[in-house]
Amino acid sequence: MKLGCCYYPEHWPESWWAEDSRRMAEMGLRLVRIGEFAWSRIEPEPGHYDWGWLDRAIETLHTAGLKVILGTPTATPPKWLVDQMPDMVAIDEQGRPRGFGSRRHYCFSHEGYRAECARITAALAQRYGQHPAIVMWQTDNEYGCHDTVLSFSDAAAAAFRGWLAARYGTVEALNTAWGNVFWSMEYRSFAEVDPPHLTVTEANPAHWLDYRRFASDQVASFNREQVEIIRAHSPGRDITHNFMGFFTEFDHHHVGRDIDVATWDSYPLGFLEQFWFTSEEKRAYVRQGHPDIAAFHHDLYRGCSNGRWGVMEQQPGPVNWARFNPAPLPGMVALWTLEACAHGAEFTAYFRWRQAPFAQEQMHAGLLRPDSTEAEAAGEARTASAVLAGIGPQQTAKAPVALVFSYEAAWTIGIQPQGQSFRYLELVFETYSALRQRGLDVDILAPSADLAGYRMVLVPTLPIIPEGFAEKLAALECPVLLGPRSGSKTESFRIPEGLAPGALREAIPLTVTRVESLRNGIAEPADGFAVTRWREDVASRLAPELSDSAGRGVVYRHGPIRYCAIWPDRALLRLLVERMAGEAGVALLDLPEGIRVRRSASHVFTFNYAAQALAVPHLNETLPPASWHIAPR
Ligand code: GAL
Repeated sequence: MKLGCCYYPEHWPESWWAEDSRRMAEMGLRLVRIGEFAWSRIEPEPGHYDWGWLDRAIETLHTAGLKVILGTPTATPPKWLVDQMPDMVAIDEQGRPRGFGSRRHYCFSHEGYRAECARITAALAQRYGQHPAIVMWQTDNEYGCHDTVLSFSDAAAAAFRGWLAARYGTVEALNTAWGNVFWSMEYRSFAEVDPPHLTVTEANPAHWLDYRRFASDQVASFNREQVEIIRAHSPGRDITHNFMGFFTEFDHHHVGRDIDVATWDSYPLGFLEQFWFTSEEKRAYVRQGHPDIAAFHHDLYRGCSNGRWGVMEQQPGPVNWARFNPAPLPGMVALWTLEACAHGAEFTAYFRWRQAPFAQEQMHAGLLRPDSTEAEAAGEARTASAVLAGIGPQQTAKAPVALVFSYEAAWTIGIQPQGQSFRYLELVFETYSALRQRGLDVDILAPSADLAGYRMVLVPTLPIIPEGFAEKLAALECPVLLGPRSGSKTESFRIPEGLAPGALREAIPLTVTRVESLRNGIAEPADGFAVTRWREDVASRLAPELSDSAGRGVVYRHGPIRYCAIWPDRALLRLLVERMAGEAGVALLDLPEGIRVRRSASHVFTFNYAAQALAVPHLNETLPPASWHIAPR
C-alpha cells in the first residue's frame, strides 16, 4: 500500500512547491491528489484557460518522484459560471436555491452545467492525459456531500418526468404501480408529475422511492460522462471517485461499476461524533473512533469496484466539521493507515498536506501546521511508511462471511421507517460489528454479487427482493440469516401479494402477519436478549428456534436459512453469529472489547482501539493503547 496526501498548490506560493514536494517524498509519500477544487484558477475567465501554474505544479511533483491523482474541478463551479446560468444550482426540499459561496452548488440534472463539466473535463484530460506523472483521475469530489444528491429544480423535475416515461411507458402504468387512486393522486400525463417535495403531508412512498432511484441514476450518469471523456484522452490510467462515510444517498455499487478504483474519505473521529453511537461509545472511543467504523467502510467499498479500492482522505488530526473535534490518541493515525492496508487498500492519502490558515477549513489539521512545521500526524505517516515497507505487499483473501448491503434498502427503510429507531445503516453496522467482535473477516457485497463459496451469509434486511435473489439464497448450503422486513415490499413499494417476506417464501416458509415498532426504552425480555425497536408476528408451520419470554417466536429456521422477526439487539446478534459459525465450522475468537483482527492472504493484523493496554489472548501479549501487532498468517 502506498501513502499519499491531498495537496492544493493553488493555496501556496509557487516558491514553496519544490520544498513541499521534497518533504512529501522524504516523509514516505508517493501519491499526491491535486486539482479537485481549482476551477477558478484553471479557467479564471470563461474560455480562458491558465494552464501555466498547473503545468508547473505537476512538473514539480513529478521531479520529486511523486505520482499525481488529478481531480476534475466540477464540485466547485466558479462564480462567473453560476452567474451565466443561475438555474444550474440545486433547489432544496424547501424550494430554496443552494447558492454560490461554498461548494457543490450544482444540480446533477442541469444540462447546461453538464455540458460545462464535459468541457472542463475534456480540457484537463487532453492536457494531462498522457503526462507520465498522472496515474489516476478523480471525478468531482464526494458526490452528495452536504446533502446534494436530491435537487428539486426545474431541471430535475423535467429529467424526472423523462425518467418516469422511460420506466413506465404509460402514465396509467405509473398510476397503478404507485397506487395513485389513493387520495386522488392520479395523473393524466407524465407532464403532470412533480418531484415529491412541498406536499401537505408525506408524499406517496412509491413516488419518493422513484425520485431517489432517479436521483441516484443522475449521479451515476453525471459520473459516467466524465469517465468516458477521461478514458478517451488518458488511456491506461485508473479512474476513481472518493465516496463518503455512512452515506447511502446514491447507489455506490452502480457508480462503482464505471470506475476502476473505489476510494473513500475516512474520518473516524468525526463519524463517531456525528452518528448514532451511544454516549458511552462516544466517550470510550473519543480519540480513536469506534473500532468498526473504518473497517466497515473499507469492506463496503472493496465490494463496490471489483476489489480495487483505497483511502483518498485520511483524518490526520482534529477536523473542523463535527459538533466536537477531538485530537486522535498518539498512534491512531498510523493505526488507521495500517488497518486500511490490512483490509486491502492500494493507497492511503492524508487530508491534507498543510493546514490552511484561511477560509472554511482553517481549523482542520494537516500533516503540516499552517507555519509548515510538522504536525503530530507527520511522524505517524513516517511510522506507517516504515511498517509497510517491513511487511511488503499484501493480497486480499476472500472472507469467510458475506454481508449483503443494498442502497435501495437504505432508501426504502428511510422513506418509511415506521418506527423512528429503525435505521438501515445502524442495523447493517451492528451486524457487521457482531461479526468483527468475534474475529471474523467480512466481505460486504451488493445483492447482485455471487454469494457462492462463503461460509456464512447475512442479510440484515432487504425489503425489496431483486429478481433471482431468493433462488440464489435457496441454493446456498451455508448458514444464512435474513433480517426483519426482508421481502416486505415490492419493486413499486407495495406490500407483496401473500404478504412479507414475499419471494423469500421460496427460501423459508413463513408469513409476517403484523409488524409493530417500539419506542426507545421499551425492551421486552427474552432468554439472554431483548425485543426492542421492532417486532413481527409470524405465521409458519416451523416451530420458532428462539422465542421471547411470552412465547412469541423471534427467530425461525428452515435448514440453513434463518429469519429474524425482531430488531436484533447486540446480544441476539452475538448468539446468532455463534450458532451460524458453529454450524459452518468457522472458528471464532474471543476478543477483548476494542481489539480487532483482520487477515490478509499472508498476515494477521491485530489492532487495539482501546484507550488502555489490553491483554490479547490469541497473541499471548499485551497491546498498548492505539497500537497494532502484525504477524505472518
Ligand atoms: C471531505 C472533503 C474534503 C474536505 C474534508 C475535510 O469531506 O472531500 O474536501 O472538506 O472533508 O474533512
